[in-house]
Amino acid sequence: MIPAELIKKKRNNQVLEESELREFLTGYVKGTIPDYQMAAMLMAIYFNSMEPDEIDSLVAIMLESGDRMNFSHLDRYVADKHSTGGVGDKVSIILGPLLASAGLAIPMISGRSLGHTGGTLDKLETIPGFRTNIDLSEFNRLVHDVGIAMISQTDEICPADRKMYALRDVTGTIESIPLICGSIMSKKIAEGIQGLVLDVKTGNGAFMKTKERAQKLGAALQRIGKSFQITTDVVYTSMDQPLGRYAGLWCEIQESVDGLHGKGPEDTMIITYELGARLLLQANLAQSREAAITLQKDLIHSGAAYDKFLEMVGAQSGDPEVFDNNSEHHGAHFEQIIAAPLSGIIQKMDTYIIGLAIVELGGGRKKASDLIDPSAGIEFYHKIGAEISKGDTIMRCFNSNESKLEGASRMLTSSFEIGDEVVEHELIVQ
Ligand code: URA
Repeated sequence: MIPAELIKKKRNNQVLEESELREFLTGYVKGTIPDYQMAAMLMAIYFNSMEPDEIDSLVAIMLESGDRMNFSHLDRYVADKHSTGGVGDKVSIILGPLLASAGLAIPMISGRSLGHTGGTLDKLETIPGFRTNIDLSEFNRLVHDVGIAMISQTDEICPADRKMYALRDVTGTIESIPLICGSIMSKKIAEGIQGLVLDVKTGNGAFMKTKERAQKLGAALQRIGKSFQITTDVVYTSMDQPLGRYAGLWCEIQESVDGLHGKGPEDTMIITYELGARLLLQANLAQSREAAITLQKDLIHSGAAYDKFLEMVGAQSGDPEVFDNNSEHHGAHFEQIIAAPLSGIIQKMDTYIIGLAIVELGGGRKKASDLIDPSAGIEFYHKIGAEISKGDTIMRCFNSNESKLEGASRMLTSSFEIGDEVVEHELIVQ
């Protein structure tokens, strides 16, 4: 195989044979194909997409690059949730422990921040000591003993996605249906799950900007789930504004803890309960959507979900005591207020720019080797439809590197529009 010939084939919009894709991908994972050739291949896939058979081969080959878990010995329903990427999306951190406290087994392989979107792993790693790089046998043990583990791709599990994900992040090749399918479904199938719920985001802060594109992605993900015998539900939710009151790193962990204490922001909890209901119904632990939502609220209010979160944190070497008194932990040294330049109603938010502003603050990576500032984030005081007066605080951004604050706050100043029309935001997109 001559790698450049395969790159040219995809560049010329031809279909790659399974054997060709296999040689290319395995060569990349082994290191015989360098990043620059994979980057060119990713860009060719980005522009020319792939046929359904090619996508299936991509998923299968990415899956084969590592091991596949088997939890069939557990007497619990084994399931997971994944989102296609958002800003302020901390749902996994609330929902994982919540469902584990309901009796499901949740072997969750998550991602780091990707492009303008936040990553569950980067957020979790702001908990002192919390380890996400966990080997297969420990992953197995944690899911067995605790009922949940939230880990990263490793050399053993989804190594192809680990390398490709990091490369896509810095080469402008994220927003591609085949590449998102390969990335998400190779991780989910490797988990050995029976059920899956996917939060497919749509809107200006999503990788799929329109409902039609999101539906195309959702249908492709669901088709792949079915062909691997995973019961797969899809919920479409809006990324036309960030989720929750905070977006960033440690601030999202704090907000997740609020959610687990029953004090989470309304939009975040609506999505959490909606996604959770799908899996509780799949697991036969509830007979209706309403009963599934009530069950989840009970687990939050009894403290069972939060206790499970603390158990998970401890089991992954995190320090649960940080949540007893966290006022000092990752405190941001600098902040800037973004005020309303005029009175009126917030018409729109540019969630893409808001996500990029978090990267600018230090909360995401511009190149693969960048270190993340755990204190970086944004607080949203008002969102779409809110009536505000000139001078009101709309957002507050914060971090611990003053030189990055100015650029980020300039971006945020242009991230919303004020007008006269009464507008509403549709959270769950029908
Ligand atoms: N989440 C993933 O795991 N991969 C993607 O490509 C996008 C979102």
